[in-house]
Amino acid sequence: MTNSVLEAIRTRRMARALTAEPVDRADLEELLKAARRAPSAGNRRLHRFVAIQDPLTLRLLRVVTPGMFQRPTAIVVICIDGGRAESFGMRPTAKGLYVDVGTTAQTMLLAAHSLGLGAGVVTSFSQAAVSAVLNLPEGWSPEMFICLGHAAPVQPAGMRPRGNVTWQTLTHWERFPAKE
Ligand SMILES: Cc1cc2nc3c(=O)[nH]c(=O)nc-3n(C[C@H](O)[C@H](O)[C@H](O)COP(=O)(O)O)c2cc1C
Repeated sequence: MTNSVLEAIRTRRMARALTAEPVDRADLEELLKAARRAPSAGNRRLHRFVAIQDPLTLRLLRVVTPGMFQRPTAIVVICIDGGRAESFGMRPTAKGLYVDVGTTAQTMLLAAHSLGLGAGVVTSFSQAAVSAVLNLPEGWSPEMFICLGHAAPVQPAGMRPRGNVTWQTLTHWERFPAKE
């Protein structure tokens, strides 16, 4: 089947080795435009993005991010605007806030892939340190980095799935049998 969306979903991989080539500002803007279209619980749009291309800030973020194997030339930090969430009566642990981080991340990853960029997700960082580096406004919490650049020709081996993972092993059709 020829379907560019399905093909992009199938061929996207985390890029953990990136070249030093910068990301075009226009591509970064396209990616942010795509992220604005990500599904959002109640269409509340409680996320804010911090887009970074400044080399010094990128270096500082790397220092506080042990899980970042790549050296990105741009990072988009997906943040939750806690003050805005509270104004909607949402608890800081509300499920929708974190589901929205995921929908946004996948939208950005696919947008990056379709623009020919390499992209990787990183979550293992000190939220306090990242907030300090970025001087984030009160109530904003950094939740995920989308690390961007141009994928190097050779990538480190990814994390292998445990067991046999196919769409069939992930799926159960219809109701489970009633419990005795
Ligand atoms: C919530 C979440 C957190 C992740 N955190 C990291 C991370 O800190 N560092 C990293 O290299 N990859 C991280 N990943 C990427 C996963 O390891 C990756 O998606 C998985 O191994 C499958 O590889 P693929 O996306 O290339 O198919 C994260 C992915 C998700 C969804």
